[in-house]
Amino acid sequence: MTFQALLLTQDGGATQAAVTALEESALPADGDVLVAVDYSTINYKDGLAITGRAPVVRKWPMVAGIDGAGTVLESAHPRWRAGDRVVLNGFGVGETHWGCLAQRARLKGDWLVKLPDAFTAQQAMAIGTAGYTAMLSVLALERAGVAPGDGEVLVTGASGGVGTVAIALLSKLGYRVAASTGKTAEADFLKALGAAEVIDRTELGKPGKPMQKERWAAVVDSVGSHTLVNACAQVRYGGAVTCCGLAQGLDFPASVAPFILRGITLYGIDSVMAPMARREQAWQRLATDLAPDRLRAITSEIGLSGAIEAGRRIVEGGMRGRVVVNINA
Ligand SMILES: NC(=O)c1ccc[n+]([C@@H]2O[C@H](COP(=O)([O-])OP(=O)(O)OC[C@H]3O[C@@H](n4cnc5c(N)ncnc54)[C@H](OP(=O)(O)O)[C@@H]3O)[C@@H](O)[C@H]2O)c1
Repeated sequence: MTFQALLLTQDGGATQAAVTALEESALPADGDVLVAVDYSTINYKDGLAITGRAPVVRKWPMVAGIDGAGTVLESAHPRWRAGDRVVLNGFGVGETHWGCLAQRARLKGDWLVKLPDAFTAQQAMAIGTAGYTAMLSVLALERAGVAPGDGEVLVTGASGGVGTVAIALLSKLGYRVAASTGKTAEADFLKALGAAEVIDRTELGKPGKPMQKERWAAVVDSVGSHTLVNACAQVRYGGAVTCCGLAQGLDFPASVAPFILRGITLYGIDSVMAPMARREQAWQRLATDLAPDRLRAITSEIGLSGAIEAGRRIVEGGMRGRVVVNINA
C-alpha cells in the first residue's frame, strides 16, 4: 500500500522537497507503532529542514515533520492499541527518523503522548512543538517562583508560534504580558490574544548596555542573540528568563553582570528530548490553560501540498501564529 509524504532528498548538497507516494513497507523498521497521521504542522525547525537552511536532517532520504497527531493502526508496544489517539513531538522524528508530514508514520511507542480528551488532532497540531514549548517555558517560570502579581512578563518573537501561544497562556494565567514583535501592524492581533503592551523588536535587537533599567519580572524568549541579551539586562532583581530559540541568531553575546549583580536566572528549554513526565504535564496544562478561542485565532490550515511553501515562509519570519497541515486534504 502507498501513502503520501513530504520527502526530503539531497542533490549535490542542496535539499529537494516533494510530495511523493511511498510504499508502506519502506517505513523505518525501528518503530513499534504504526500511526495514521491526520494532522501535522510547520514549526520553524520544519522550515529549516524543508529549505535545507540548517542541518536539521541527519539521514537521507527523510520524511519531514517533527510533529504529528493521529490514530494508532497497529501496535507492538504495551501502552498502545489500535484506535488510540496520540500526539508525537520531537524525539528526532523528521531529523533522524521518518516524520509526520505523511499519511503514515512508524514511531516508537515510548515517544507517544495520549492526545488529551480536550483536543482534536487538529487542535493538538495547532499547538504543536511550538505551543508545547511555550508551555514548557511557562512551567519553568512557575518552578522559578514567578507569580502573576510580580510584574510584566516579556514575550519575544511575539507573533510566531512559541510567542503567540506563550501570550495566550500567560494572559489566561493572570500575568501582564508585553509582546515584542517586528510586525507592529499586528499589535491589535497580539492585544486580542492577551498582550497588555506591544513593543517594537528593534528596541531589543541591537547591541545594548550590559545592565539596563529593570523592566520585566520574567521573559519568554524564542529569538536568542542580542534580543535575549537585552532581555536579560532588563530583568528585575531575582527574575527569570527562558530561552528556547534562535530566530534572530544562535549567538549569545552577553555579560555576566545581570546574573551576578541582579541574581537573575536563565533557563534553557528543550522540547525534543524532554522526559515523558514533563511532556505529559505540559499537555495536561495546555488542556486547562489554553483558551480554545485564542488557539483558533492563531491557527490557519493548509494541505500537504502547501507545506513546502509554508516551510519557506516560516524561515523568512513571515508566519503569524501557527499553521496546521491537514494531511489528507
Ligand atoms: N528548544 C526547543 O525545543 C524549541 C522548540 C520550539 C521552537 N524552538 C525555536 O524557537 C524559535 C521560534 O520557533 P517558532 O516555531 O515560534 O518560529 P516562528 O513561528 O517563525 O516564530 C519566530 C518569531 O521570531 C521573530 N523573528 C524572526 N526573525 C527574527 C529576527 N531576525 N530578529 C528578531 N526576531 C525575529 C518573528 O516574530 P515577530 O515578527 O513577532 O518579531 C517570528 O515570528 C525557533 O528558533 C525554533 O527553532 C525551539
